[in-house]
Amino acid sequence: MCGIVGAVAQRDITPVLLEGLKRLEYRGYDSCGVAVYAEGELRRARSTERVAELLSQVEKDKVAGFTGIAHTRWATHGAPATHNAHPHFSGNAKSSPRIALVHNGIIENHDELREELQAAGYVFESQTDTEVIAHLVDHLYAGDLLEAVQQATRRLTGAYAIAVFCRDEPHRVVGARHGSPLVVGRGVNENFLASDALALAGTTDQITYLEDGDVVDLQLARVWITDSEGRAVDREVHTVQVHTGAAELGPYRHYMQKEIFEQPRAVADTLQDIESITPELFGDQAYKVFKDIDNVLILACGTSYYAGLTARYWIESIAKIPVNVEIASEYRYRDSVPNPRSLVVTISQSGETADTLAALKHARGLGMEHTLTICNVATSAMVRECKLAYITRAGVEIGVASTKAFTTQLTALFLLALALAQTKDKLSEEKEAESLKALRHLPVAIGAVLALEPQIMAWADRFASKENALFLGRGMHYPIALEGALKLKEISYIHAEAYPAGELKHGPLALVTEAMPVVTIAPRDELLEKLKSNMQEVHARGGELYVFADADTRIGSSEGIHVIRMPENYGKLSPILHTIPLQLLAYHTACARGTDVDKPRNLAKSVTVE
Ligand code: AGP
Repeated sequence: MCGIVGAVAQRDITPVLLEGLKRLEYRGYDSCGVAVYAEGELRRARSTERVAELLSQVEKDKVAGFTGIAHTRWATHGAPATHNAHPHFSGNAKSSPRIALVHNGIIENHDELREELQAAGYVFESQTDTEVIAHLVDHLYAGDLLEAVQQATRRLTGAYAIAVFCRDEPHRVVGARHGSPLVVGRGVNENFLASDALALAGTTDQITYLEDGDVVDLQLARVWITDSEGRAVDREVHTVQVHTGAAELGPYRHYMQKEIFEQPRAVADTLQDIESITPELFGDQAYKVFKDIDNVLILACGTSYYAGLTARYWIESIAKIPVNVEIASEYRYRDSVPNPRSLVVTISQSGETADTLAALKHARGLGMEHTLTICNVATSAMVRECKLAYITRAGVEIGVASTKAFTTQLTALFLLALALAQTKDKLSEEKEAESLKALRHLPVAIGAVLALEPQIMAWADRFASKENALFLGRGMHYPIALEGALKLKEISYIHAEAYPAGELKHGPLALVTEAMPVVTIAPRDELLEKLKSNMQEVHARGGELYVFADADTRIGSSEGIHVIRMPENYGKLSPILHTIPLQLLAYHTACARGTDVDKPRNLAKSVTVE
């Protein structure tokens, strides 16, 4: 993943670079660093702490200059250590370093290049694949940085976005992208590069999205872009208004808690006062596309994948259209049987997830042109790549663990099920009116579940001392159990697995002892009695059941069975309501264990490497 910022200007650019880094920490926070040109040499500060610590280092060491690059890292090659932190330098060991470079992505042929460069006399200081690019650019440098970068990128395989500058051409930064995002921000006699326009908000809103294969030469008054063939190209300049996400925490301890409590607003915003169901909610061409398709293929990762699994239940049951849901990183590499009449739906909070983007391109390469994305970022690559889109309006999500992004995805997917049903003449007017009524009431219903927080906190205290947990659900609540387990794992570091409750007896029941909490989602639906039997199987073996039960399920608390009562049964939209207590349980358990809730270890908000 990693985040990149670069700048050429006539003022000290370090504050802009560091502010940009802070905003890019969602892309990784294993280490960070900045390099500038000052008084004829390259100066650098790097830290394995957060950007705030880098800031004090920069002030102490007086790292300031008119040209510079900065980086926040999510480690792939080489541990999160200072010597592996970017920017990486290269140059003749006898003089001061000549090249400074930052990189986002993975260079697949780094071993072979490393050997070649070592043979040419380069000494490596890190275990990163990035240092290989720095030395390669230096090796190819003959007085023109642009030319050196163009030549170097021709030798790279893998995915990358890079920003590089040279001691000998101090008013120039060169960038290149192939498979990882990079944007150019234009100012007056100053220009910028960044992984995301968000990094430049407040500095410039004039943004150009580079395309794969592009190399950009950034000077004070000039932005020169060449494509993969080395031809000069014009890329459109967009005026992009981005929220900085510098939201105040208000009464909350963490952004995750704040974002959980923002869900009534986020869901209401995502519904945008919709008065009737029409395919056009998804784009101008949606009616034609929906008419033409005979199946749906959903591609996504992580939490977004679980949203897709839930949508399968809705679309098959409401619109009667067959649905396949695939993990994007698997789909892109397997031999599948393409159907040109598939509606390919990608789901992504960020719209930049490398695996999902690649899976989308793969599907299109197989001749599937009906593409739709459900995405929270209107300017993202995913939205640009798809014919149709529905923008969820969750607002910026800062906590790495997805919360409001998930429930707004579910809201949009429920609308999709209704719109598909309508196009296929499967939605009566009564059903449409009833569904719209339920959707409109959803924010209030979520609010009522949020009021359960104190009861859930009491459970979290008990979970804090556990090392394992099981989550059970049935039918459309099984993906919600998966999401609950993922939330608990990623922020509390407790090992958690989810199963369809009926599957327990086929193996996982062997894990059940009095030390195993078993979280159970118990809506009042047609599978309730089956679920109760599954709960008995756990109870009989001494397992501790923690049940979120709808009011009319007649499941009561007793020895080994703890129950929190959900305020109301919510029919087909019940998965959205049952998500909320699982988010709160994970959140408060993580707080009780003292983890870094908003930035859990080893993770990043946006996963732009494969
Ligand atoms: C969820 O809490 C995670 N942060 C993660 O699974 C995430 O949903 C996944 O990486 C996909 O991201 P996307 O929605 O931005 O594509």
